[in-house]
Amino acid sequence: MNTQDYIKREDKYGAHNYHPLPVVLERGLGPFVWDVEGKRYFDFLSAYSAVNQGHCHPKIIKALTDQASKLTLTSRAFYNSVLGEYEEYITKYFKYDKVLPMNSGAEADETALKLCRKWAYKKKGIKKDRAKIICCAGNFHGRTITIISMSTDPDATNHFGPFTPGFIIIPYNDLQALEKALQDPDVAGFLVEPIQGEAGVFVPDEGYLKKSYDLCKKHNVLFIADEVQTGLARTGKLLACDHEGVRPDILILGKALSGGVMPISAVLADDEIMLTILPGEHGSTFGGNALAGKVGIASLEVIKEEKLAENSERLGKIFRDELKSIKSDMIEIVRGKGLLNATVIKPKGGKTAWHVCLAMMEQGLIAKPTHEHIIRFAPPLVITEDQIREAISLIKKAFAMFE
Ligand SMILES: Cc1ncc(COP(=O)(O)O)c(C=O)c1O
Repeated sequence: MNTQDYIKREDKYGAHNYHPLPVVLERGLGPFVWDVEGKRYFDFLSAYSAVNQGHCHPKIIKALTDQASKLTLTSRAFYNSVLGEYEEYITKYFKYDKVLPMNSGAEADETALKLCRKWAYKKKGIKKDRAKIICCAGNFHGRTITIISMSTDPDATNHFGPFTPGFIIIPYNDLQALEKALQDPDVAGFLVEPIQGEAGVFVPDEGYLKKSYDLCKKHNVLFIADEVQTGLARTGKLLACDHEGVRPDILILGKALSGGVMPISAVLADDEIMLTILPGEHGSTFGGNALAGKVGIASLEVIKEEKLAENSERLGKIFRDELKSIKSDMIEIVRGKGLLNATVIKPKGGKTAWHVCLAMMEQGLIAKPTHEHIIRFAPPLVITEDQIREAISLIKKAFAMFE
């Protein structure tokens, strides 16, 4: 089978809910992936920042395979010998009292919303079914009905209503709007991405997170950080909130918590919040499974052992500087933090961000447009300086194809 055969088969038998680049990958190692024809690419998407530790990281794969032949899933109907070890490890790692393990990012966000509401009724004293959660225009927290109820993206919401009530949407990076919304005594939480990833890597003003956090404290409202994409060293710190010394009341993690090996997500909070949820009120068959526990520990260890946050911070600066130096009238803006970066593309002669991605693919580097005119660049954080420089030369060659 060749590339076209693989694509045709997916098209025929799979739902058309994605629009992939026409490349069929069959192998990955570190920052590289190979297609079915044997061509090598730099992976500059990292599965939307799930593969921060690099493809098939040997330590994570070993943890997976060792545990896979021992015990995978018991459900939470019983205890298993790994879950407690994982819970102790991750709570000490991020300095929270408790963790609630889930699988996908969307589920973790849903969990955080439920937890926030429960806290509002049990601790804050908001009257039954009145709790509201503030969120930001341009947000991306996943694809479930409740989560898209917060979305301002028509592609996410059109023909999927009716929606879940209880959300107040304010502009991102707008402290005045937040302060105004916080006047409502029924507000229980503020859910925010420290950098809006899917929206196109929008980095808020310096101080926004800290000031938002302080405003939330003033109004006895939970500050909930969705670090599913920004977390785990992607932006040059372990958490993007660390850039401003903010410790969220509820922390949501996913993606790189498994190094891209399996779906693992987590919600972290202290007892005051976490213990409001009681047995039988929330859960997931796979959440907290033994395999995920071992993979989660190995993935977090790799981040510290290989100093991925430091690498991301250092190489991110080099990458942004080099990107800014590219002479192309298609590049409008370069922005980002650490190794989460994006360019806004000005179409030229009918050629858009999609065409730039095709050109980069031809050169041996894959990235994907977000919102038609933005290209996100997010390589695995194990990438080296030499590799980053090689990747930049490929990006330059791709832009030169439009001159
Ligand atoms: C900030 C953020 N939250 C949540 C999600 C949803 O994660 P998942 O696709 O694993 O459900 C994403 C996915 O891109 C995300 O970027």
